[in-house]
Amino acid sequence: MDATTRIEQALAAAIDHVVPGCPPRLAEAVRHSVFPGGARVRPRLCLAVAAACGSKDYAAADAVAAAIELLHCASLVHDDLPCFDDSPLRRGVPSVHRAFGEPLAVLAGDALIILAFEHLARSIPSERLGPLLLTVSGSVGMPFGITAGQAWECEPTVSVEEYHRTKTGSLFAAATAAGAQVAGADADAWRVVGDRIGEAYQVADDLRDVAASAQEVGKPVGRDALLNRPSAAGELGIDGAIERLRGLMKGAIDAIPPCPGAEQLAEVLMAESRHIMPKNLAQRAA
Ligand code: IPE
Ligand code: IPE
Ligand code: MG
Ligand code: MG
Repeated sequence: MDATTRIEQALAAAIDHVVPGCPPRLAEAVRHSVFPGGARVRPRLCLAVAAACGSKDYAAADAVAAAIELLHCASLVHDDLPCFDDSPLRRGVPSVHRAFGEPLAVLAGDALIILAFEHLARSIPSERLGPLLLTVSGSVGMPFGITAGQAWECEPTVSVEEYHRTKTGSLFAAATAAGAQVAGADADAWRVVGDRIGEAYQVADDLRDVAASAQEVGKPVGRDALLNRPSAAGELGIDGAIERLRGLMKGAIDAIPPCPGAEQLAEVLMAESRHIMPKNLAQRAA
């Protein structure tokens, strides 16, 4: 089964488990938050690292990948709320609070966060659960997870690197570290790979915010300047940000620890680094 099918099935199974008996509109809001998905880049990365490390435990890898994507979806639902980025559009359709109202958007985000951990607890044998929970929870909590990343928006100053590393890099780092853990490999050695990919991904997102159209990205553009968010494009300019993105992806590839599938993973990451470059900047980057 290919990675996309595995991810979609794992996400559907996690949600199906908690829908019976649930208030119908909350169930609908949760499904709207997760399906249809976006790039699913974090769970794909998690599965790719597990495979590169030689894992044959597909069920555990799928569960971790799904948990990470559920947390990502929750972060988007909360990020779009009027008290954060106030975005009417996500993945080309109305954001959750626009479709279901603010109370259900807050609750859907909460429910997805809890579901991610519940799904891990249900899917991973107890003797392996603790370390995986620590990896995943660290990436969304404080002091260095998404919660901290979003909270930096409430401080008078933060460096763009710290902001990117916490709000975005942390979950990518969990994707690579947990993918390695599933395979019994050293999680810490893999964390830096995810960290760099995540930062590169946020630089690409910042570039799209200044250089792409809302239609192309399925969400509003020009928001970072409007909301006064630290942004790689704002701080480094377009060419500087492209250079930074390139350097981060090269750094990620260089950091791949020795493993059975290292070469293949490097190729996947090279393709990904071409893919995340906003289309209308690809020529400029070439
Ligand atoms: C958007 O993430 C938010 C960032 C951290 C850049 P994605 O670009 O991965 O969003 P989807 O899941 O593909 O919609
Ligand atoms: C998203 O950063 C950070 C999250 C952790 C959700 P952005 O605010 O730049 O993401 P988009 O542009 O809304 O997808
Ligand atoms: Mg946002
Ligand atoms: Mg953005």
